[in-house]
Amino acid sequence: MTIAPPTGAEPANRVREVADHVENGSVPTFIYNDPQLFELEQKKLFPRVWVFLAHRSEVPNPGDFVVRSIGTDSVIVIRGDDGEVRAFLNTCRHRGAKLCNAEVGSSRTLTCIYHGWSYNREGKLTGVPFGRAVYKDLPKEELGLNPVAQVDQVEGFIFGCLDPEAPSLLDYLGDFAPYLQLVTKRSAAGLEVVGYPQRWIVEVDWKIPTENLVGDAYHTPYSHHSASEVGLWGWSYGSMQPGGTKVGVHVQAGNGDFAMARRSQDFTYGYPPSMIDVLRSQISPEMAKVFDEGGGDGLGTWPTRGSIFPNFSAINLPIVIHGEVTPLMSVRLWQPVRPGVTEAWSWCLVEADAAAEFKERSSRAYTAAMGPSGMVEQDDMENWRTITAGAVGEQTREAPQYVRMGEDLGIKPIADWPGPGTAWPTQYLDLPVRTFLKRWTQWLSQ
Ligand code: FES
Ligand code: FE
Repeated sequence: MTIAPPTGAEPANRVREVADHVENGSVPTFIYNDPQLFELEQKKLFPRVWVFLAHRSEVPNPGDFVVRSIGTDSVIVIRGDDGEVRAFLNTCRHRGAKLCNAEVGSSRTLTCIYHGWSYNREGKLTGVPFGRAVYKDLPKEELGLNPVAQVDQVEGFIFGCLDPEAPSLLDYLGDFAPYLQLVTKRSAAGLEVVGYPQRWIVEVDWKIPTENLVGDAYHTPYSHHSASEVGLWGWSYGSMQPGGTKVGVHVQAGNGDFAMARRSQDFTYGYPPSMIDVLRSQISPEMAKVFDEGGGDGLGTWPTRGSIFPNFSAINLPIVIHGEVTPLMSVRLWQPVRPGVTEAWSWCLVEADAAAEFKERSSRAYTAAMGPSGMVEQDDMENWRTITAGAVGEQTREAPQYVRMGEDLGIKPIADWPGPGTAWPTQYLDLPVRTFLKRWTQWLSQ
């Protein structure tokens, strides 16, 4: 159940109120379950930012399509005969029926179930039943599918933006973009999705998981202690505590925030050494420095989790499977459904040219830890659900949360960080959550 904000509190005023809170190191709980703010997000945020749509391996051939969403708009992502990936609103130009009811497939044409109009792989209207008998001058060329204004990909990740005036994807990502190399270039063939993405509905506001993955290292030793106790983590419990290697570096770059572990040079997260050689041979000199020297004191780094604003996250963790450290790679989309409700989308990815045995083990690691049945994932969902549920309490929703970790310790950025963006020498910081919410208030107030 959701409750509207107090009478007279215009959404714009509420956003200003949140901005003041965030500036002062607090967050009012109502932002996680509020119909008016949800509506504002759909109007002012999602139609203007770049949103993750698919990985290129999900649509490898002409005619391959998947159905995804940008905010509350359903979109078809399809590879054309020219090899280009495009996206269109999933609505027929005739009377607005949902055009593509299959979630995934491959087709020469997209045909509407209502009156049978059909469109080719480039979105052009090509077939109209009884065409000349019922229309004298149907302007077919004007009745192609409504395109998503911009579609682009970076390192195999395809994003879309409904705003034709928005900056390019690379400009939007800014300094974040080069860091993607660190997770995509362990294979000359790049990454590929294992099976289909998993999806599940949670009574959680979409911002909470994104915030968790931009920068909540603090919850890991406590919420996920049981994963340590059963030996699921590929790192020690101590490494997750303040000063530990796992929580070594936090990076803010462009529209992304992410965590990097400090790594001894021979720790490969369970990736075969040959993949690390391929990685070093394919990344830029700047990223090679981050990878091999960014940890300081002779240590390298390894990206473990992060988010791109607004609702895309990635996780790359070592998990112990049958006594063997095994990496999992997953990307996430936190799809808003309605106030306080999110559809979690989760993809498992592996190196496309890896041995079958490695792919199998890595996908097992993913299943054991992440996804709707994963041990780690379930810890998180319950935490996030309780915040969202609390946000409708008459008094609770106004109760300010405390997000000032790191402030009184005077933690300064790493002066000689070798990569773009700004890095801090710990992940025990509330700065990334505050940055995320600051961005959110800026989008909602423009
Ligand atoms: Fe699609 Fe009529 S609504 S053909
Ligand atoms: Fe967690």
